[in-house]
Amino acid sequence: MKTVFSGIQPSGDLHIGNYIGAISQWVKGQDFTESIFCVVDLHAITVPQNPSAIKEKVLEVAALYLACGIDPRKSKIFIQSENPNHTELAWILNTITPFGQLERMTQFKEKSEKHEVNVGLFDYPVLMASDILLYQTDEVPVGEDQKQHIELTRDLAEKFNKKFGQTFKLPNSVIHKDTARIMSLQNPLSKMSKSDNDPLGTINLLDTVEKIKEKIKKAVTDSNSSISKDNGGEAIANLLAIYSAFKDQSLDITYNELDGKSYGEFKGLLAELVVDKLKEIQGKYTQIRSDEKYLRRVLDEGKDYSINKSLKTLNKAKEQLGLM
Ligand code: AMP
Ligand code: TRP
Repeated sequence: MKTVFSGIQPSGDLHIGNYIGAISQWVKGQDFTESIFCVVDLHAITVPQNPSAIKEKVLEVAALYLACGIDPRKSKIFIQSENPNHTELAWILNTITPFGQLERMTQFKEKSEKHEVNVGLFDYPVLMASDILLYQTDEVPVGEDQKQHIELTRDLAEKFNKKFGQTFKLPNSVIHKDTARIMSLQNPLSKMSKSDNDPLGTINLLDTVEKIKEKIKKAVTDSNSSISKDNGGEAIANLLAIYSAFKDQSLDITYNELDGKSYGEFKGLLAELVVDKLKEIQGKYTQIRSDEKYLRRVLDEGKDYSINKSLKTLNKAKEQLGLM
């Protein structure tokens, strides 16, 4: 059975880009893989977080994983900072990571324009490599923006194996081209993101029905007035990608279904689809979040499992290095 590992930072509000690009892919895979999903809180603190809010955020993300369909009988969910093996392997990997390769990371370059640069932000991809390599992971389902980090992970694994002997499996990213990059509803050239300054650009998983409808209604389109495969711009293509993802059908089928429909009519259908799905997720979320004992039990099971499994790889790496 293949091992799948992925994670999301408990920073900002989870949005439909996270759902479409990451979580919904995880849900589909969990029946036939060994799936492990992490709430990466140590990644989140590489940019300023409010210490009194972060615990709540971590639990929110874990509960959203479950509400979106991650089934704890099939998958493991745990909190990164509850397993110290991640930071320990990250330190070891630091010693073989070329400085120049981290300087070339696109996400680092983008974030360092917005935040004061700390060493943790620079080292972020090495901790991510550690997350993945500790579990002998085969596949990492993520959005397009994480591809470069997974390439670095493979490079580090290969380098370590060559230098010290076979230790890590080389993981592959799993990125679905139609849904890998959901764009802002206000600017189709910019990725839908937790840190978007324009609140109309992002539909959050916990948005109210009114907000979801308003955001779709106000989403930018183009100067055409109806859907056509040949002449739609990026904005309408993005809305069609969202529609396809929520309907779980290919873009081709969506174009066939909606060809010739007016943008107004299409937006109505899209809003109905998104509202129905998010209402279902929110219903489950409220239920899960009101039973913290249950949530803690799921996270404790995940913690024990992740510590046991990752320790095997960490010990192997230390042995190869000649450490005690
Ligand atoms: P982040 O929000 O940066 O913690 O990302 C968590 C996961 O969601 C990663 O796998 C990202 O690649 C994915 N993701 C984030 N934003 C988008 C987006 N706009 N479109 C598709 N996937 C996304
Ligand atoms: N860096 C990822 C992001 O910003 C989150 C992440 C951390 C991750 N560790 C991971 C994703 C391991 C996949 C696998 O979205």
